Amino acid sequence: MSRFTITTPIFYVNAPPHVGHAYTVVAADVLARFHRLRGDDVFFLTGTDEHGEKIAEAARAASTTPQALADSVAQSFRETWKLLDVTNDDFIRTTEHRHEVGVVHALRLLKERDVVYQQSYRGLYCTGCEKFLTEKDLDDTGKCPLHNRVPELVEETNWFFRLSTFLPHLKEIIERDEVRISPRERKNEVLGLLRQGLEDFSISRDRARVPWGIPLPFDATQTCYVWVDALFNYLTALGYGSPDTSKLQQFWPADVHVIGLDILKFHAVYWPAILLALGEKLPREIAVHGFFTVNGQKISKSLGNVIDPLELVKRYGSDGTRFLLLSQFPFGVSGDVSVVRFDEQYDAALANTIGNLVSRTVALLQKFSSGRIPNAAIDRSVENEIREYNLPFRDVWGGEPMEDDIEQLVHNPLRLSSSLNKFAEIWAPWHEPDAMKRDAALRSLAAGVAEVGILAEPILPKTSAAIQRAFGIVGSKPPAPGTPVAATDPPILFPRAKDL
Ligand code: MSP
Repeated sequence: MSRFTITTPIFYVNAPPHVGHAYTVVAADVLARFHRLRGDDVFFLTGTDEHGEKIAEAARAASTTPQALADSVAQSFRETWKLLDVTNDDFIRTTEHRHEVGVVHALRLLKERDVVYQQSYRGLYCTGCEKFLTEKDLDDTGKCPLHNRVPELVEETNWFFRLSTFLPHLKEIIERDEVRISPRERKNEVLGLLRQGLEDFSISRDRARVPWGIPLPFDATQTCYVWVDALFNYLTALGYGSPDTSKLQQFWPADVHVIGLDILKFHAVYWPAILLALGEKLPREIAVHGFFTVNGQKISKSLGNVIDPLELVKRYGSDGTRFLLLSQFPFGVSGDVSVVRFDEQYDAALANTIGNLVSRTVALLQKFSSGRIPNAAIDRSVENEIREYNLPFRDVWGGEPMEDDIEQLVHNPLRLSSSLNKFAEIWAPWHEPDAMKRDAALRSLAAGVAEVGILAEPILPKTSAAIQRAFGIVGSKPPAPGTPVAATDPPILFPRAKDL
Protein backbone atom coordinates (compact mmCIF):
# COMPACT_ATOMS: atom_id res chain seq x y z
CA MET A 1 0.00 0.00 0.00
CA SER A 2 1.21 3.46 -0.77
CA ARG A 3 -0.27 6.89 -0.50
CA PHE A 4 -1.73 8.77 -3.42
CA THR A 5 -2.38 12.50 -3.48
CA ILE A 6 -4.46 13.89 -6.32
CA THR A 7 -5.81 17.41 -6.86
CA THR A 8 -8.05 19.33 -9.24
CA PRO A 9 -7.70 23.02 -10.00
CA ILE A 10 -9.70 25.15 -7.60
CA PHE A 11 -12.61 26.75 -9.42
CA TYR A 12 -13.43 30.43 -9.73
CA VAL A 13 -16.63 31.31 -7.94
CA ASN A 14 -17.83 33.90 -10.46
CA ALA A 15 -20.34 31.37 -11.84
CA PRO A 16 -21.68 27.92 -10.92
CA PRO A 17 -20.04 24.74 -12.25
CA HIS A 18 -20.36 23.72 -15.89
CA VAL A 19 -19.42 20.55 -17.77
CA GLY A 20 -15.81 21.65 -18.28
CA HIS A 21 -15.31 21.86 -14.52
CA ALA A 22 -17.19 18.61 -14.01
CA TYR A 23 -14.87 16.85 -16.47
CA THR A 24 -11.76 17.72 -14.45
CA VAL A 25 -13.31 16.69 -11.17
CA VAL A 26 -14.75 13.40 -12.42
CA ALA A 27 -11.45 12.48 -14.11
CA ALA A 28 -9.66 13.03 -10.81
CA ASP A 29 -12.36 11.11 -8.97
CA VAL A 30 -11.97 8.10 -11.27
CA LEU A 31 -8.26 7.97 -10.43
CA ALA A 32 -8.85 8.55 -6.72
CA ARG A 33 -11.41 5.73 -6.57
CA PHE A 34 -9.12 3.42 -8.49
CA HIS A 35 -6.26 4.03 -6.07
CA ARG A 36 -8.55 3.43 -3.10
CA LEU A 37 -9.58 0.11 -4.66
CA ARG A 38 -5.93 -0.78 -4.96
CA GLY A 39 -5.61 -0.16 -1.23
CA ASP A 40 -3.72 3.13 -1.41
CA ASP A 41 -4.14 5.78 1.24
CA VAL A 42 -5.69 8.48 -0.94
CA PHE A 43 -5.94 12.21 -0.41
CA PHE A 44 -8.14 13.82 -3.07
CA LEU A 45 -8.41 17.60 -2.96
CA THR A 46 -10.65 20.08 -4.74
CA GLY A 47 -11.96 23.52 -3.82
CA THR A 48 -12.69 27.07 -4.89
CA ASP A 49 -10.62 30.08 -5.94
CA GLU A 50 -12.36 33.05 -4.38
CA HIS A 51 -10.12 36.13 -4.49
CA GLY A 52 -9.16 38.64 -7.18
CA GLU A 53 -10.70 41.12 -9.55
CA LYS A 54 -12.72 38.57 -11.47
CA ILE A 55 -14.70 37.62 -8.38
CA ALA A 56 -14.99 41.22 -7.15
CA GLU A 57 -16.32 42.20 -10.57
CA ALA A 58 -18.86 39.33 -10.62
CA ALA A 59 -20.03 40.31 -7.13
CA ARG A 60 -20.52 43.94 -8.22
CA ALA A 61 -22.54 42.77 -11.22
CA ALA A 62 -24.72 40.64 -8.93
CA SER A 63 -25.07 43.52 -6.41
CA THR A 64 -23.57 41.46 -3.64
CA THR A 65 -20.29 41.23 -1.76
CA PRO A 66 -17.45 39.01 -2.96
CA GLN A 67 -17.68 36.96 0.23
CA ALA A 68 -21.43 36.41 -0.13
CA LEU A 69 -20.99 35.41 -3.77
CA ALA A 70 -18.14 33.07 -2.85
CA ASP A 71 -20.18 31.47 -0.06
CA SER A 72 -23.09 30.72 -2.32
CA VAL A 73 -21.15 29.54 -5.40
CA ALA A 74 -18.71 27.45 -3.32
CA GLN A 75 -21.78 25.72 -1.91
CA SER A 76 -23.10 24.99 -5.38
CA PHE A 77 -19.74 23.45 -6.36
CA ARG A 78 -19.84 21.25 -3.28
CA GLU A 79 -23.40 20.14 -3.98
CA THR A 80 -22.75 19.44 -7.64
CA TRP A 81 -19.73 17.29 -6.84
CA LYS A 82 -21.77 15.40 -4.27
CA LEU A 83 -24.50 14.67 -6.80
CA LEU A 84 -21.84 13.41 -9.20
CA ASP A 85 -20.60 11.03 -6.49
CA VAL A 86 -17.25 12.77 -6.29
CA THR A 87 -15.27 11.46 -3.32
CA ASN A 88 -12.97 14.38 -2.50
CA ASP A 89 -11.39 14.13 0.96
CA ASP A 90 -11.18 17.88 1.43
CA PHE A 91 -12.57 21.04 -0.14
CA ILE A 92 -10.40 24.10 0.27
CA ARG A 93 -11.63 27.66 -0.13
CA THR A 94 -9.06 30.43 -0.51
CA THR A 95 -11.01 32.68 1.86
CA GLU A 96 -10.56 30.18 4.70
CA HIS A 97 -8.31 31.11 7.59
CA ARG A 98 -6.15 27.96 7.17
CA HIS A 99 -5.40 29.01 3.59
CA GLU A 100 -4.57 32.62 4.41
CA VAL A 101 -2.21 31.53 7.19
CA GLY A 102 -0.29 29.30 4.78
CA VAL A 103 -0.13 31.92 2.02
CA VAL A 104 1.21 34.55 4.41
CA HIS A 105 3.82 32.08 5.65
CA ALA A 106 4.95 31.29 2.10
CA LEU A 107 5.06 34.95 1.05
CA ARG A 108 7.23 35.81 4.05
CA LEU A 109 9.64 33.05 3.14
CA LEU A 110 9.87 34.21 -0.47
CA LYS A 111 10.74 37.69 0.77
CA GLU A 112 13.29 36.40 3.28
CA ARG A 113 14.97 34.34 0.60
CA ASP A 114 15.18 37.37 -1.61
CA VAL A 115 13.38 35.76 -4.54
CA VAL A 116 10.98 38.69 -4.91
CA TYR A 117 11.78 42.30 -5.80
CA GLN A 118 9.87 45.50 -6.56
CA GLN A 119 9.50 46.83 -10.07
CA SER A 120 7.12 49.06 -11.95
CA TYR A 121 5.24 47.42 -14.75
CA ARG A 122 2.94 48.38 -17.57
CA GLY A 123 0.83 45.78 -19.29
CA LEU A 124 -2.52 44.74 -20.69
CA TYR A 125 -4.51 42.87 -18.07
CA CYS A 126 -7.51 40.64 -18.82
CA THR A 127 -9.61 40.18 -15.70
CA GLY A 128 -11.42 37.23 -17.34
CA CYS A 129 -8.10 35.38 -17.65
CA GLU A 130 -6.67 36.98 -14.49
CA LYS A 131 -3.39 37.47 -16.32
CA PHE A 132 -1.40 39.94 -18.40
CA LEU A 133 -1.67 39.48 -22.14
CA THR A 134 0.73 40.56 -24.87
CA GLU A 135 -0.30 42.23 -28.14
CA LYS A 136 0.01 38.90 -29.93
CA ASP A 137 -2.53 37.28 -27.60
CA LEU A 138 -5.22 39.73 -28.78
CA ASP A 139 -7.55 39.38 -31.78
CA ASP A 140 -7.71 41.86 -34.70
CA THR A 141 -9.94 44.21 -32.75
CA GLY A 142 -7.56 44.32 -29.78
CA LYS A 143 -9.75 42.11 -27.58
CA CYS A 144 -8.93 39.01 -25.54
CA PRO A 145 -10.32 36.28 -27.80
CA LEU A 146 -11.37 34.10 -24.86
CA HIS A 147 -13.32 36.79 -23.03
CA ASN A 148 -14.21 39.05 -25.94
CA ARG A 149 -13.17 42.16 -24.05
CA VAL A 150 -10.51 44.83 -24.34
CA PRO A 151 -7.86 44.27 -21.66
CA GLU A 152 -7.17 47.05 -19.21
CA LEU A 153 -3.90 49.00 -19.40
CA VAL A 154 -2.37 48.63 -15.96
CA GLU A 155 0.67 50.54 -14.81
CA GLU A 156 1.81 50.03 -11.25
CA THR A 157 4.66 48.99 -9.01
CA ASN A 158 4.43 45.34 -7.94
CA TRP A 159 6.53 42.62 -6.42
CA PHE A 160 8.08 40.24 -8.94
CA PHE A 161 9.26 36.66 -8.58
CA ARG A 162 12.77 35.92 -9.91
CA LEU A 163 11.62 33.20 -12.26
CA SER A 164 14.79 33.49 -14.36
CA THR A 165 16.87 32.13 -11.47
CA PHE A 166 14.98 28.84 -11.54
CA LEU A 167 14.52 28.27 -15.26
CA PRO A 168 17.64 26.22 -16.05
CA HIS A 169 16.98 23.83 -13.15
CA LEU A 170 13.29 23.62 -14.02
CA LYS A 171 14.12 22.73 -17.61
CA GLU A 172 16.23 19.78 -16.43
CA ILE A 173 13.53 18.64 -14.03
CA ILE A 174 10.93 18.58 -16.77
CA GLU A 175 13.20 17.02 -19.37
CA ARG A 176 14.03 14.23 -16.94
CA ASP A 177 10.35 13.74 -16.01
CA GLU A 178 11.05 14.49 -12.37
CA VAL A 179 7.86 16.46 -12.75
CA ARG A 180 6.16 14.40 -15.42
CA ILE A 181 3.91 16.37 -17.72
CA SER A 182 1.45 14.25 -19.64
CA PRO A 183 0.48 13.88 -22.42
CA ARG A 184 3.80 14.31 -24.20
CA GLU A 185 2.64 17.23 -26.39
CA ARG A 186 2.07 19.23 -23.25
CA LYS A 187 5.54 18.44 -21.97
CA ASN A 188 6.92 19.66 -25.28
CA GLU A 189 4.80 22.79 -25.02
CA VAL A 190 6.32 23.57 -21.62
CA LEU A 191 9.85 22.87 -22.83
CA GLY A 192 9.13 25.21 -25.76
CA LEU A 193 8.07 27.95 -23.35
CA LEU A 194 11.20 27.43 -21.28
CA ARG A 195 13.42 27.57 -24.36
CA GLN A 196 11.84 30.86 -25.46
CA GLY A 197 12.77 32.25 -22.07
CA LEU A 198 10.11 33.53 -19.72
CA GLU A 199 9.99 36.80 -17.89
CA ASP A 200 9.79 37.21 -14.14
CA PHE A 201 6.14 37.46 -13.09
CA SER A 202 4.46 39.75 -10.62
CA ILE A 203 3.09 38.18 -7.47
CA SER A 204 1.12 41.21 -6.30
CA ARG A 205 -1.32 43.90 -7.36
CA ASP A 206 -1.88 47.42 -6.11
CA ARG A 207 -4.24 47.04 -3.15
CA ALA A 208 -6.00 50.29 -4.00
CA ARG A 209 -7.08 48.74 -7.31
CA VAL A 210 -7.50 45.11 -6.16
CA PRO A 211 -8.57 45.07 -2.51
CA TRP A 212 -10.24 41.60 -2.61
CA GLY A 213 -7.41 39.27 -1.66
CA ILE A 214 -4.65 38.57 0.83
CA PRO A 215 -2.38 41.55 1.63
CA LEU A 216 1.35 40.94 1.26
CA PRO A 217 2.72 40.49 4.80
CA PHE A 218 5.71 42.68 3.98
CA ASP A 219 3.91 45.41 1.99
CA ALA A 220 0.36 46.33 2.97
CA THR A 221 -0.11 48.43 -0.19
CA GLN A 222 -0.16 45.21 -2.22
CA THR A 223 -2.59 42.29 -2.60
CA CYS A 224 -1.23 38.83 -3.41
CA TYR A 225 -1.84 38.03 -7.11
CA VAL A 226 -4.82 35.68 -7.30
CA TRP A 227 -2.92 32.98 -9.21
CA VAL A 228 -0.14 32.82 -6.63
CA ASP A 229 -2.76 32.78 -3.86
CA ALA A 230 -4.62 29.96 -5.65
CA LEU A 231 -1.62 27.71 -6.37
CA PHE A 232 -0.79 27.63 -2.67
CA ASN A 233 -4.06 25.79 -2.01
CA TYR A 234 -2.31 22.51 -2.78
CA LEU A 235 -0.09 23.06 0.26
CA THR A 236 -2.38 24.99 2.58
CA ALA A 237 -5.02 22.24 2.48
CA LEU A 238 -2.37 20.01 4.06
CA GLY A 239 -1.66 22.47 6.86
CA TYR A 240 1.29 24.34 5.36
CA GLY A 241 2.21 27.25 7.62
CA SER A 242 0.38 25.77 10.62
CA PRO A 243 2.04 24.10 13.61
CA ASP A 244 0.66 20.69 12.60
CA THR A 245 2.66 19.40 9.65
CA SER A 246 1.61 15.76 9.88
CA LYS A 247 -0.65 15.82 6.81
CA LEU A 248 1.94 17.67 4.83
CA GLN A 249 4.48 15.00 5.64
CA GLN A 250 2.07 12.26 4.76
CA PHE A 251 0.54 13.63 1.57
CA TRP A 252 3.02 16.04 -0.03
CA PRO A 253 4.26 16.02 -2.76
CA ALA A 254 1.12 15.50 -4.82
CA ASP A 255 1.24 12.48 -7.10
CA VAL A 256 -0.94 14.16 -9.71
CA HIS A 257 -2.27 17.63 -10.33
CA VAL A 258 -5.11 17.16 -12.85
CA ILE A 259 -5.61 20.37 -14.86
CA GLY A 260 -7.01 21.65 -18.15
CA LEU A 261 -4.57 22.80 -20.82
CA ASP A 262 -5.63 26.42 -20.31
CA ILE A 263 -3.67 26.64 -17.06
CA LEU A 264 -0.57 24.69 -18.01
CA LYS A 265 1.98 27.51 -17.65
CA PHE A 266 0.83 28.32 -14.12
CA HIS A 267 1.15 24.70 -13.02
CA ALA A 268 4.15 23.51 -14.98
CA VAL A 269 6.33 26.63 -14.75
CA TYR A 270 5.26 29.09 -12.05
CA TRP A 271 4.21 26.53 -9.43
CA PRO A 272 7.32 24.31 -9.53
CA ALA A 273 9.52 27.43 -9.57
CA ILE A 274 7.78 28.76 -6.44
CA LEU A 275 8.16 25.37 -4.76
CA LEU A 276 11.86 25.30 -5.62
CA ALA A 277 12.21 28.76 -4.09
CA LEU A 278 10.45 27.58 -0.93
CA GLY A 279 12.53 24.40 -0.76
CA GLU A 280 9.43 22.19 -0.98
CA LYS A 281 9.17 18.95 -2.94
CA LEU A 282 7.71 19.12 -6.45
CA PRO A 283 4.55 17.36 -7.66
CA ARG A 284 5.28 14.07 -9.40
CA GLU A 285 2.94 14.56 -12.33
CA ILE A 286 0.82 17.16 -14.03
CA ALA A 287 -1.91 15.46 -16.07
CA VAL A 288 -3.37 17.82 -18.61
CA HIS A 289 -6.73 17.29 -20.25
CA GLY A 290 -8.25 19.05 -23.25
CA PHE A 291 -10.49 22.07 -23.44
CA PHE A 292 -14.11 21.75 -24.52
CA THR A 293 -16.30 23.97 -26.54
CA VAL A 294 -20.07 23.59 -26.76
CA ASN A 295 -21.61 24.10 -30.20
CA GLY A 296 -18.20 25.23 -31.42
CA GLN A 297 -17.85 28.05 -28.87
CA LYS A 298 -16.22 28.66 -25.55
CA ILE A 299 -18.54 27.69 -22.71
CA SER A 300 -19.90 30.94 -21.36
CA LYS A 301 -22.97 32.31 -19.68
CA SER A 302 -23.18 35.24 -22.10
CA LEU A 303 -23.22 32.87 -25.09
CA GLY A 304 -25.97 30.84 -23.45
CA ASN A 305 -24.27 27.50 -24.10
CA VAL A 306 -23.56 26.48 -20.52
CA ILE A 307 -24.51 22.88 -19.83
CA ASP A 308 -25.42 22.49 -16.20
CA PRO A 309 -24.02 19.18 -14.93
CA LEU A 310 -27.06 18.89 -12.67
CA GLU A 311 -29.40 18.84 -15.66
CA LEU A 312 -27.36 15.95 -17.02
CA VAL A 313 -27.55 14.14 -13.68
CA LYS A 314 -31.34 14.54 -13.69
CA ARG A 315 -31.57 12.88 -17.08
CA TYR A 316 -28.76 10.33 -17.12
CA GLY A 317 -28.13 9.78 -13.42
CA SER A 318 -24.71 10.41 -11.89
CA ASP A 319 -23.15 7.30 -13.47
CA GLY A 320 -24.55 8.19 -16.89
CA THR A 321 -23.23 11.74 -16.61
CA ARG A 322 -19.80 10.64 -15.41
CA PHE A 323 -19.50 8.26 -18.32
CA LEU A 324 -20.81 10.71 -20.94
CA LEU A 325 -18.40 13.40 -19.79
CA LEU A 326 -15.32 11.21 -19.74
CA SER A 327 -16.04 9.29 -22.91
CA GLN A 328 -16.41 12.29 -25.23
CA PHE A 329 -12.68 12.47 -25.96
CA PRO A 330 -9.58 10.60 -24.93
CA PHE A 331 -7.94 12.30 -21.93
CA GLY A 332 -5.79 15.15 -23.20
CA VAL A 333 -7.76 15.78 -26.39
CA SER A 334 -9.87 18.90 -26.92
CA GLY A 335 -13.12 19.01 -28.84
CA ASP A 336 -16.69 20.10 -29.18
CA VAL A 337 -19.28 18.57 -26.86
CA SER A 338 -22.53 17.91 -28.60
CA VAL A 339 -25.36 17.24 -26.19
CA VAL A 340 -27.67 16.13 -28.98
CA ARG A 341 -25.59 12.96 -29.28
CA PHE A 342 -25.77 12.17 -25.54
CA ASP A 343 -28.98 10.11 -25.77
CA GLU A 344 -27.53 7.95 -28.50
CA GLN A 345 -24.20 7.50 -26.69
CA TYR A 346 -25.95 6.71 -23.42
CA ASP A 347 -28.13 4.07 -25.08
CA ALA A 348 -25.28 2.45 -26.96
CA ALA A 349 -22.84 2.23 -24.08
CA LEU A 350 -24.94 2.01 -20.97
CA ALA A 351 -28.52 0.90 -21.69
CA ASN A 352 -27.73 -1.53 -24.51
CA THR A 353 -24.36 -2.80 -23.31
CA ILE A 354 -23.93 -2.89 -19.53
CA GLY A 355 -27.64 -2.53 -18.67
CA ASN A 356 -28.68 -5.22 -21.11
CA LEU A 357 -25.92 -7.61 -20.03
CA VAL A 358 -26.79 -7.35 -16.35
CA SER A 359 -30.53 -7.65 -16.77
CA ARG A 360 -30.33 -10.59 -19.16
CA THR A 361 -27.81 -12.42 -16.94
CA VAL A 362 -29.96 -11.96 -13.84
CA ALA A 363 -33.08 -13.06 -15.76
CA LEU A 364 -31.30 -16.16 -17.13
CA LEU A 365 -30.03 -17.16 -13.70
CA GLN A 366 -33.51 -16.78 -12.26
CA LYS A 367 -35.14 -18.76 -15.02
CA PHE A 368 -32.65 -21.60 -15.45
CA SER A 369 -30.66 -21.79 -12.25
CA SER A 370 -33.10 -21.04 -9.40
CA GLY A 371 -31.53 -17.60 -9.01
CA ARG A 372 -28.13 -19.05 -8.05
CA ILE A 373 -24.75 -19.13 -9.71
CA PRO A 374 -24.49 -22.66 -11.14
CA ASN A 375 -21.69 -25.01 -10.26
CA ALA A 376 -19.72 -25.23 -13.51
CA ALA A 377 -16.34 -24.18 -14.82
CA ILE A 378 -15.86 -20.71 -16.27
CA ASP A 379 -15.28 -20.77 -20.00
CA ARG A 380 -11.63 -20.23 -20.96
CA SER A 381 -12.38 -17.40 -23.38
CA VAL A 382 -14.37 -15.52 -20.75
CA GLU A 383 -11.51 -15.99 -18.30
CA ASN A 384 -9.15 -14.54 -20.87
CA GLU A 385 -11.36 -11.53 -21.43
CA ILE A 386 -11.57 -10.94 -17.69
CA ARG A 387 -7.83 -11.17 -17.41
CA GLU A 388 -7.34 -8.74 -20.25
CA TYR A 389 -9.64 -6.06 -18.90
CA ASN A 390 -8.71 -6.20 -15.26
CA LEU A 391 -5.04 -5.83 -16.04
CA PRO A 392 -4.86 -2.39 -14.42
CA PHE A 393 -6.29 -3.82 -11.22
CA ARG A 394 -3.70 -6.55 -10.99
CA ASP A 395 -0.57 -4.83 -12.12
CA VAL A 396 1.02 -1.74 -10.77
CA TRP A 397 0.89 0.89 -13.45
CA GLY A 398 4.12 2.70 -12.64
CA GLY A 399 5.39 4.51 -15.70
CA GLU A 400 2.20 4.30 -17.73
CA PRO A 401 0.99 7.60 -19.06
CA MET A 402 -2.04 9.04 -17.32
CA GLU A 403 -4.16 9.17 -20.45
CA ASP A 404 -3.96 5.38 -20.75
CA ASP A 405 -4.98 4.89 -17.13
CA ILE A 406 -8.10 6.98 -17.50
CA GLU A 407 -8.93 5.47 -20.87
CA GLN A 408 -8.90 1.96 -19.43
CA LEU A 409 -10.81 2.85 -16.31
CA VAL A 410 -13.53 4.50 -18.39
CA HIS A 411 -13.81 1.96 -21.17
CA ASN A 412 -12.79 -1.46 -19.83
CA PRO A 413 -16.09 -2.20 -18.06
CA LEU A 414 -17.85 -1.59 -21.36
CA ARG A 415 -15.40 -3.57 -23.42
CA LEU A 416 -15.86 -6.55 -21.15
CA SER A 417 -19.65 -6.13 -21.18
CA SER A 418 -19.68 -5.98 -24.91
CA SER A 419 -17.64 -9.20 -25.23
CA LEU A 420 -19.96 -10.91 -22.74
CA ASN A 421 -23.01 -9.85 -24.73
CA LYS A 422 -21.41 -11.45 -27.79
CA PHE A 423 -20.77 -14.67 -25.87
CA ALA A 424 -24.39 -14.65 -24.71
CA GLU A 425 -25.58 -14.39 -28.32
CA ILE A 426 -23.27 -17.17 -29.48
CA TRP A 427 -24.09 -19.55 -26.64
CA ALA A 428 -27.77 -18.57 -26.51
CA PRO A 429 -28.32 -20.36 -23.19
CA TRP A 430 -32.06 -19.66 -23.54
CA HIS A 431 -32.13 -22.18 -26.46
CA GLU A 432 -29.58 -24.61 -25.02
CA PRO A 433 -31.14 -28.02 -24.32
CA ASP A 434 -28.01 -29.48 -22.66
CA ALA A 435 -28.16 -28.49 -18.97
CA MET A 436 -24.37 -28.84 -18.49
CA LYS A 437 -23.61 -26.55 -21.38
CA ARG A 438 -26.25 -24.09 -20.23
CA ASP A 439 -24.83 -24.05 -16.70
CA ALA A 440 -21.35 -23.43 -18.06
CA ALA A 441 -22.65 -20.49 -20.10
CA LEU A 442 -24.54 -19.05 -17.13
CA ARG A 443 -21.61 -19.49 -14.77
CA SER A 444 -19.32 -17.76 -17.28
CA LEU A 445 -21.70 -14.86 -17.85
CA ALA A 446 -22.18 -14.46 -14.09
CA ALA A 447 -18.42 -14.40 -13.51
CA GLY A 448 -18.06 -11.82 -16.27
CA VAL A 449 -20.83 -9.60 -14.89
CA ALA A 450 -19.33 -9.80 -11.41
CA GLU A 451 -16.05 -8.62 -12.89
CA VAL A 452 -17.81 -5.76 -14.68
CA GLY A 453 -19.24 -4.82 -11.26
CA ILE A 454 -15.73 -4.53 -9.84
CA LEU A 455 -14.15 -2.81 -12.85
CA ALA A 456 -16.97 -0.26 -13.02
CA GLU A 457 -16.40 1.15 -9.53
CA PRO A 458 -14.18 4.11 -10.53
CA ILE A 459 -16.33 5.37 -13.41
CA LEU A 460 -19.83 4.00 -12.61
CA PRO A 461 -19.90 3.74 -8.81
CA LYS A 462 -23.67 3.31 -8.42
CA THR A 463 -23.84 0.64 -11.11
CA SER A 464 -20.89 -1.11 -9.55
CA ALA A 465 -22.56 -1.12 -6.12
CA ALA A 466 -25.83 -2.44 -7.58
CA ILE A 467 -24.05 -5.27 -9.44
CA GLN A 468 -21.97 -6.15 -6.40
CA ARG A 469 -25.06 -6.28 -4.19
CA ALA A 470 -27.00 -8.36 -6.71
CA PHE A 471 -24.14 -10.84 -7.21
CA GLY A 472 -23.18 -11.13 -3.56
CA ILE A 473 -19.70 -9.71 -4.10
CA VAL A 474 -17.85 -8.88 -0.93
CA GLY A 475 -14.38 -7.35 -0.88
CA SER A 476 -13.97 -7.49 -4.68
CA LYS A 477 -13.97 -11.34 -4.59
CA PRO A 478 -15.87 -13.01 -7.44
CA PRO A 479 -18.94 -14.91 -6.19
CA ALA A 480 -18.68 -18.68 -5.72
CA PRO A 481 -21.09 -21.22 -7.28
CA GLY A 482 -24.29 -21.44 -5.26
CA THR A 483 -24.32 -17.72 -4.44
CA PRO A 484 -27.88 -16.40 -4.76
CA VAL A 485 -28.33 -13.62 -7.30
CA ALA A 486 -30.97 -11.02 -6.56
CA ALA A 487 -32.61 -8.61 -8.98
CA THR A 488 -30.36 -5.59 -9.39
CA ASP A 489 -31.41 -2.58 -7.47
CA PRO A 490 -32.64 -0.49 -9.25
CA PRO A 491 -34.10 -3.34 -11.36
CA ILE A 492 -33.19 -1.62 -14.61
CA LEU A 493 -29.73 -0.13 -14.31
CA PHE A 494 -30.01 2.12 -17.33
CA PRO A 495 -33.51 2.72 -18.74
CA ARG A 496 -33.38 3.54 -22.46
CA ALA A 497 -33.04 7.25 -23.26
CA LYS A 498 -36.53 7.40 -24.76
CA ASP A 499 -37.91 6.31 -21.36
CA LEU A 500 -35.98 8.87 -19.34
N1 MSP B 1 -9.08 29.22 -10.62
C1 MSP B 1 -8.28 28.78 -11.69
C2 MSP B 1 -7.49 27.54 -11.30
C3 MSP B 1 -6.59 27.69 -10.11
S1 MSP B 1 -5.79 26.21 -9.69
C4 MSP B 1 -4.65 26.63 -8.59
C5 MSP B 1 -9.18 28.44 -12.88
N2 MSP B 1 -10.45 28.18 -12.59
S2 MSP B 1 -11.59 27.85 -13.66
O1 MSP B 1 -12.77 27.65 -12.87
O2 MSP B 1 -11.64 28.82 -14.69
O3 MSP B 1 -11.18 26.53 -14.37
C6 MSP B 1 -10.64 25.45 -13.69
C7 MSP B 1 -10.50 24.24 -14.55
O4 MSP B 1 -11.77 23.83 -15.04
C8 MSP B 1 -9.67 24.37 -15.83
O5 MSP B 1 -8.32 24.27 -15.67
C9 MSP B 1 -10.10 23.14 -16.52
O6 MSP B 1 -9.46 22.05 -15.89
C10 MSP B 1 -11.57 23.11 -16.22
N3 MSP B 1 -12.32 23.74 -17.29
C11 MSP B 1 -12.94 24.97 -17.29
N4 MSP B 1 -13.53 25.16 -18.49
C12 MSP B 1 -13.30 24.10 -19.28
C13 MSP B 1 -13.69 23.71 -20.56
N5 MSP B 1 -14.43 24.48 -21.34
N6 MSP B 1 -13.27 22.48 -20.99
C14 MSP B 1 -12.53 21.63 -20.21
N7 MSP B 1 -12.17 21.97 -19.01
C15 MSP B 1 -12.47 23.21 -18.53
O7 MSP B 1 -8.68 28.36 -13.98
